[in-house]
Amino acid sequence: MDDLKQKYLSRIADAADEAALEDIRLAAVGKKGEVALKMRELGKMSPEERQTAGPALNALKDEINSALAAKKEALMDAALDERLRGEWLDVTLPGRARPMGTIHPISQVTEEVTAIFADMGFSVAEGPQIDTDWYNFDALNIPGHHPARAEMDTFYMHRAEGDDRPPHVLRTHTSPVQIRHMEKHGAPCRIIAPGRVYRADYDQTHTPMFNQVEGLAIDRDISMANLKWVLEEFFAAFFEVDGIKTRFRASHFPFTEPSAEVDIQCSWVDGQLKIGEGDGWLEVLGSGMVHPHVLRSGGVDPEQWQGFAFGMGIDRIAMLKYGIPDLRAFFDSDLRWLRHYGFASLDVPTLHGGLSR
Ligand code: PHE
Repeated sequence: MDDLKQKYLSRIADAADEAALEDIRLAAVGKKGEVALKMRELGKMSPEERQTAGPALNALKDEINSALAAKKEALMDAALDERLRGEWLDVTLPGRARPMGTIHPISQVTEEVTAIFADMGFSVAEGPQIDTDWYNFDALNIPGHHPARAEMDTFYMHRAEGDDRPPHVLRTHTSPVQIRHMEKHGAPCRIIAPGRVYRADYDQTHTPMFNQVEGLAIDRDISMANLKWVLEEFFAAFFEVDGIKTRFRASHFPFTEPSAEVDIQCSWVDGQLKIGEGDGWLEVLGSGMVHPHVLRSGGVDPEQWQGFAFGMGIDRIAMLKYGIPDLRAFFDSDLRWLRHYGFASLDVPTLHGGLSR
């Protein structure tokens, strides 16, 4: 019995893994193991012999079983240690740099414009990019024969023959949002409407799709003076130049009366454009007092209400502010250009936090 004990305890101590341990268990204390065979021999013994051999065999069996259990636990601990060593990870290492997207200058400038006008009490309105020619033209006092329709290089939606729904166009300006907003919310109102507009035109300063922001303020006694103040406040905040000079030039739009185009002060030094200094002028927007016909189209009574409107090219002012020479680059999706002119995604422009980088 002592031999058996020595043999199995040392084999258990040497077992390399759980499979080897299981083999040892079967050979020692399994149903056909050596200890079981010895137990069978008990029947052939005299009662006296049996009285010492029986308990001794049971003790041997217990001892081998507990040696097996202890070894099994030790093997499992070792396996876990091994795994922890293999999967070790230094969580204090710095993160790997990943290519990160940037905010497109048009989105950035739209946010800047929105922040400035929001501070002056304007909320943001939107309208569809595909609109009826009534909203895009007629409601804005541009009847069918009006030359402005031809000047706008309008994209008309295709209509199958016999389809007599009203003609739809890709909106040529954001002005139809004036009508939609008045129809829905009436007067008074103070909104801006940024968004995409479309005209069939393509060169260094024109793309078939570009961005405008419309402004509309209606109340009982709004005047050109309010328009001038709002725009001057806007330009000073946007270009971050105090006391920037503006020039209002008499102009004509069918939907405003009187109408003015607005220029801002600039200079060209060594081919570099500087905003807010010098004696040059750059045209940046069209504006005026909303025409009574337009108020009526929107369901607003021109005897009670009056207001101003303006339309400004977002791409244009983005080019001026950030020194971008070619409008077409905005829409080329050139990654090198985007990395150069793009904005960090967490740089949300606010008046208190700073509008630009
Ligand atoms: N809609 C005009 C354009 O696209 C701009 C404008 C808007 C002018 C509002 C006056 C008032 O050119």
